[in-house]
Amino acid sequence: MTHHRCCFILLHVRQKLHRLRMPCGYILGVLAACLLLLVYVIHSSTERKFTIGHQQAGVAAYIPERGRLETFTVQNIKISYYLPKLGCPDRPWILALVISSAEDFQCRAAVRSTWASEASALGLNLTERLRVLHLIAVSRNETANNNIMRESRTHFDLAQGNFVDSYRNLTIKSIMGLHIATSACPRQPGLVIKIDCDTYLNVDNLLAFESGDNHANAIYGFLLDNDRPIRRRKNKSFISREEYDGGTYPPFIGGFFYVMTTGVAGQLYGEAARCNYLLPLEDVSVTGLLAERVGVRRYHLAGVLRRTPRVWEETFSALAVHSLTPPQMTNISKTRWRYQHS
Ligand SMILES: *[C@@H]1O[C@H](CO)[C@@H](O)[C@H](O)[C@H]1NC(C)=O
Ligand SMILES: *[C@@H]1O[C@H](CO)[C@@H](O)[C@H](O)[C@H]1NC(C)=O
Ligand SMILES: *[C@@H]1O[C@H](CO)[C@@H](O)[C@H](O)[C@H]1NC(C)=O
Ligand SMILES: *[C@@H]1O[C@H](CO)[C@@H](O)[C@H](O)[C@H]1NC(C)=O
Ligand SMILES: *[C@@H]1O[C@H](CO)[C@@H](O)[C@H](O)[C@H]1NC(C)=O
Repeated sequence: MTHHRCCFILLHVRQKLHRLRMPCGYILGVLAACLLLLVYVIHSSTERKFTIGHQQAGVAAYIPERGRLETFTVQNIKISYYLPKLGCPDRPWILALVISSAEDFQCRAAVRSTWASEASALGLNLTERLRVLHLIAVSRNETANNNIMRESRTHFDLAQGNFVDSYRNLTIKSIMGLHIATSACPRQPGLVIKIDCDTYLNVDNLLAFESGDNHANAIYGFLLDNDRPIRRRKNKSFISREEYDGGTYPPFIGGFFYVMTTGVAGQLYGEAARCNYLLPLEDVSVTGLLAERVGVRRYHLAGVLRRTPRVWEETFSALAVHSLTPPQMTNISKTRWRYQHS
């Protein structure tokens, strides 16, 4: 628009100047001024876009009546995030923090239509006992960010931080989850679970775990012992010797699923807040290094499957099954009910 108008004026001016037999220098002068104006307009409009992008960050579907902004500081960086209203339960409850990449709309849809809603099919009143929040950050893709805004205003279950959504920023996302667990509600959740979006949760088995005799000062999930840092640069989990120079990591729980009490979440958060460096590998960092420093123990849970089992029916008795596509997740959910009620 501005560009066109500018050229039009230019043409107009040139015609006039021609009629007035103005020297060429004037025309060049006007041209240069016009060019400068154009550069300025383009520059200020990209700057404006950038600012909006930053406001979106953490403020994605910011509707004050439906949520609030929260802040915390990690590695000396102040992070803010949008937290939708949870409708805090006044009875013991469970908080499920689901991790997905900002652009993975299908994955979140699969979670909503499977285990997150099976809870009500089980007679577990979702409004009373379980809250499911999807943790995301900001995409580098503006179209995706606009879709996220729409998704957020439809479901009000997205907590969005104002940092770039990336694999190496997952540690920050996880600390954001710990902050939510410890500060979202006056009555804190009895259990906090962190689960990847491609992981199916058998909610009834989680309830069995909840009523079992477990340690309050521990993290449960898929235990990894003696894991070594990957030194191949091309691997996404690459860690340099400057980042971590040990030969093995302390025992940690695989990031796709773990469960802990809010007390543990608070200890991990407190320790994270004191660190000015966190390893950009979420599970090693949170359930390994931070847990070790505060003396939180890690235990293996038999029902947590890292890979899809060969015998499909095993998914029905598991607690959590990792590495599923959205259609597989829907399939488990459907066939499981048929299987158990036939
Ligand atoms: C679930 O609990 C809420 C709050 O106590 C109540 O209003 C609602 O009727 C319950 N829903 C079902 C299906 O029991
Ligand atoms: C950006 O996001 C949109 C919507 O999710 C998607 O269709 C498009 O392919 C993405 N573009 C890039 C470059 O990834
Ligand atoms: C992590 O987020 C910060 C803040 O938005 C950003 O500057 C940084 O580039 C991100 N890191 C990666 C690896 O994306
Ligand atoms: C990264 O390393 C792990 C462990 O050695 C391996 O399982 C994985 O396939 C590697 N990923 C890539 C992309 O090379
Ligand atoms: C869906 O589940 C059934 C049985 O539970 C299994 O036999 C089938 O292979 C599954 N299909 C897909 C596409 O995963």
